Amino acid sequence: MHSKAAFIVVANRLPIDASVDEESGEVQWVRSPGGLVTALEPVLRDHHGTWIGWAGTTEATPGPVDSEGVRLLPVELSKDEVRAYYEGYSNASLWPLYHDAVEPSVFRRSWWKTYCEVNERFAEVCAAEAAEGAVVWIQDYQLQLVPAMLRERRPDLRIGFFLHIPFPPVELFMQLPQRRQILEGVLGADLIGFQRPLAAENFLKAVETVTEYEPKGHLITVDGRHVSADAFPISIDTEGNTSIASSARVTQRAKEIRAELGDPETLILGVDRLDYTKGIEQRLKAYRELLEDGSMSVPETVMVQVATPSRERVEQYRVLRHRVEREVGRINGDFGKVGLPAVHYLHQSYDRYELAALYRAADVMAVTPLRDGMNLVAKEYCAARIDDSGALLLSEFAGAAGELSGAYRVNPYDITQMKRRFMTAVTAPEEEKRERMEKMRSFLKEYNVDRWARGFLTALGVPESATDETR
Ligand code: ADP
Ligand code: F6P
Repeated sequence: MHSKAAFIVVANRLPIDASVDEESGEVQWVRSPGGLVTALEPVLRDHHGTWIGWAGTTEATPGPVDSEGVRLLPVELSKDEVRAYYEGYSNASLWPLYHDAVEPSVFRRSWWKTYCEVNERFAEVCAAEAAEGAVVWIQDYQLQLVPAMLRERRPDLRIGFFLHIPFPPVELFMQLPQRRQILEGVLGADLIGFQRPLAAENFLKAVETVTEYEPKGHLITVDGRHVSADAFPISIDTEGNTSIASSARVTQRAKEIRAELGDPETLILGVDRLDYTKGIEQRLKAYRELLEDGSMSVPETVMVQVATPSRERVEQYRVLRHRVEREVGRINGDFGKVGLPAVHYLHQSYDRYELAALYRAADVMAVTPLRDGMNLVAKEYCAARIDDSGALLLSEFAGAAGELSGAYRVNPYDITQMKRRFMTAVTAPEEEKRERMEKMRSFLKEYNVDRWARGFLTALGVPESATDETR
């Protein structure tokens, strides 16, 4: 019997996904995709907390496991629940709406019902796990009702909520049929964190418009309680990323990658979950046109596009995969040579060493989302550029653009401008690129994930010692 937890993170996913071997019944764990896991993993390791989340499987859900000092507590979801709560309400209703409606949202009443039921289950598991007065940090859009549900069960807890994705302008948010319930759910927290100041402002405006509460600056009084909403831009484990990138193994692998690609003069890299918010199609279009008009040519220039498999049963993701793969095929058909494709397309997950090697091998990193809460790939690329070389092409619609001022900024909706910026990034003098990269790297040394977590938890009123759980 383990003692109750003093520090808990609640997220839709655990940091590792379970897959159960059909014959042996053995559970195998693999790292889960996405920025949330990247950011929270080092925080939990430092604080020895408990992480409550879905194990990514609808087969027999494994029991709690200990992983590097973190207790992982799986929440069970049935196939139908995954379809309605995760693929439906979270990823076909909320996700597109919160990303500027770059794809239309689908609203179904049955999905909402399951979203409520699953949020309730997360709240119950957490209420049973938390010690008296514990700190609970709830994550992201899949669990927006959990703060209020948890408060109802456990008013003794200190509750934080962090939204990893953008919060949309009120004109868009108003489309959501359950807009009031969602806001009231989030307002169960003591502190609500956003990636960027604009997201916090959008949220405060939505509260003012939709609920009876009247925000005063960043504060909202909810039934006599003070709730605060503010920006806490997330970051990466800069030191960890830099140290992996400096290892002999990665240095060697980066050389091999360049050699395997035919030692191009310019290697352009994209690394994204295969998501329509990431602007992969726009990036490919710009690259195709640069090859067409002769500004770039193969094999002097090569693009590597890593597209991590994501949400593969959601219709819009299937359509996107089809379109991206067709475009890659078209570009290679028109501009590739025997043994020398123009785009190397990799629909796979990689470990941190292989990703770091790709970052170190790339001359230009293209991060061109149509909208993105932060984008950690952009930060990881900078952390990996241990000799201050390389150029980052970064969309102005990524949260990271507000911080990484050394990047070459692009508007991914403007293909002509993106082509120009690509060429600028490729041809800029080494000295200029070095200055830009240096600036971003020194920013990231200071503003790392530890600073993000400490900033949020301090604002939540948690003394540092309180999250060093003794179990
Ligand atoms: P999002 O959270 O929308 O996926 P981010 O850029 O913030 O976007 O975070 C993505 C995270 O996933 C990064 O930490 C990145 O290293 C990791 N990642 C992206 N692609 C892969 C891949 N193919 N294999 C393993 N990890 C990946
Ligand atoms: O913040 C974006 C996010 O949805 C996270 O919650 C998650 O870690 C990541 O993207 C990956 O998405 P999913 O868990 O749906 O695979």
